[in-house]
Formats: sequence, C-alpha cells, structure tokens
Amino acid sequence: MVIPQHVAIILDGNGRWAKSKGMPRSYGHAKGAQNLEVICEDAWNMGIKYLTVYLFSTENWKRSPDEVDSLMRLFRRYTKTCIKTARDNNMKVRVLGDPTALAEDLQKSLADLVESSKDNTGLNFQIALNYGSRDEIVRAIRRLATDCVDGKLSIQDITEECFSGYLDTAGVPDPDLLIRTSGELRLSNYLMWQLAYTEFYFTEVPWPDFTKEELQKAIEKYNSRNRRYGA
Ligand code: IPE
Ligand code: IPE
Ligand code: MG
Repeated sequence: MVIPQHVAIILDGNGRWAKSKGMPRSYGHAKGAQNLEVICEDAWNMGIKYLTVYLFSTENWKRSPDEVDSLMRLFRRYTKTCIKTARDNNMKVRVLGDPTALAEDLQKSLADLVESSKDNTGLNFQIALNYGSRDEIVRAIRRLATDCVDGKLSIQDITEECFSGYLDTAGVPDPDLLIRTSGELRLSNYLMWQLAYTEFYFTEVPWPDFTKEELQKAIEKYNSRNRRYGA
C-alpha cells in the first residue's frame, strides 16, 4: 500500500457530534482536540510525513462570540499541550494563517511552539488557525509585490514555484490526500492553491469519531485511485 506523504484534513462535525449527544458545541471541540493528538501519532506510525489540519478559518469569526471565545480558550490549552507533544514525539509544527488577529498571548504561545519544534525530525504538523486560502494568497501577493517594488524580485522571475514560496506552506510539499469529515462536500477556503492535484476523500464520520481505522480506509481508497496529472 502506498502511504500518502502529505495528508490534509478538514476536521469538521465537532458541533453536530456534540449536539447529537445532547452536549454543548464546546464539548465537541474539546473532544475534537483530544482526537487530533491521537491521530497525529497514528499518522506518523502509519508512515505519513506531513499532516495539515484546519482548526479555524478566516470565516469562523462569524460564529457566536461565545463559541469563538471557547474555541480561543481551547486553542490556548491545545497550543500548550502541543509544545509538550511536539517535544515527546519529535514533531515539527508550523502555523498557517494570519496570526495577527489572535490575542497576543496566543500568538506568543504559537511562536514558541514553532520555535521550540523547528529542529524536530518527526511528523511535519501544520495547523491552520485563522487561515483562509484567499487571505493567504492576498498576503503572499502583498509580500511578493513589496519585493518587486524593492527590487529584490523581477517580474520575469515570478513562476509557480516562486509564488508557492510566498505562501504560508512554503517548503511543504502539496497534499496527496485531502480528507473532510462529517459529510460536507466543499473546501471552505482551505489550501486552494496547494490542492490543485490532490485526491479528495469525504466521509460522513464526524471528526471526534474519526479513528485510525477511518484514516486507513481513506488511504485504501486513495490507493484504489488512478492518480493522473493531466497526462
Ligand atoms: C469543526 O467543527 C471545527 C471548527 C470549525 C472550529 P464544526 O464546529 O464546524 O462542527 P459542525 O460542522 O458545526 O458540526
Ligand atoms: C471549515 O469548517 C473550517 C474548519 C474546519 C476549521 P466549517 O464547518 O467552518 O465550514 P463551513 O462553514 O461549514 O463551510
Ligand atoms: Mg462545520
């Protein structure tokens, strides 16, 4: 079986999962965060080298202030836990998205997480937080245009590869497999540039119930596909 080098996940369905149990949405998010810790280890043990997960989109600010608050509190806890997990499991963590809209203490913890794990050689773990693909592309264009104006880059040198280097995912290979849990069939502004040739896998299983066995199923399905790149 071919193990995809890079798996991207839209971990969706926390809220509906909690509701189905008569619990508040925040309970679903907490369970979802716990599950993410488990899946990170499973992914590495299965031979996956890069895992990129969507934690909070640029559109998620439109949720109720209560839910946004409880998510931010969860991200604070999660980031602290992740610093330890990264150390114990040798994970290298990168953050995708625009951190400037996040509270300063969270920005600092995220920067600590990235800095403290940067030399690790295990799983490359990307967390997308206040991430939107359109926002990422616009931020990349701003930096690229600044380099052109400053004479550091000439217009002739702008290639696909050069542009990729301005994205938050610079240096990370494109995903081989995208998984979205909980039944929605859309991208919700996730990695639109990077997913150009990625295989998509959708499952009804909500994120808190997504197990190693479900990941294996996704990989089996991926193996049954005939991947083509236009040829
Ligand atoms: C995914 O679960 C986590 C975040 C977007 C933060 P949802 O919160 O979207 O759960 P549903 O889709 O409403 O069930
Ligand atoms: C996408 O899920 C964002 C994350 C998983 C963080 P949503 O549940 O927010 O997406 P929509 O709004 O249903 O498209
Ligand atoms: Mg959702």
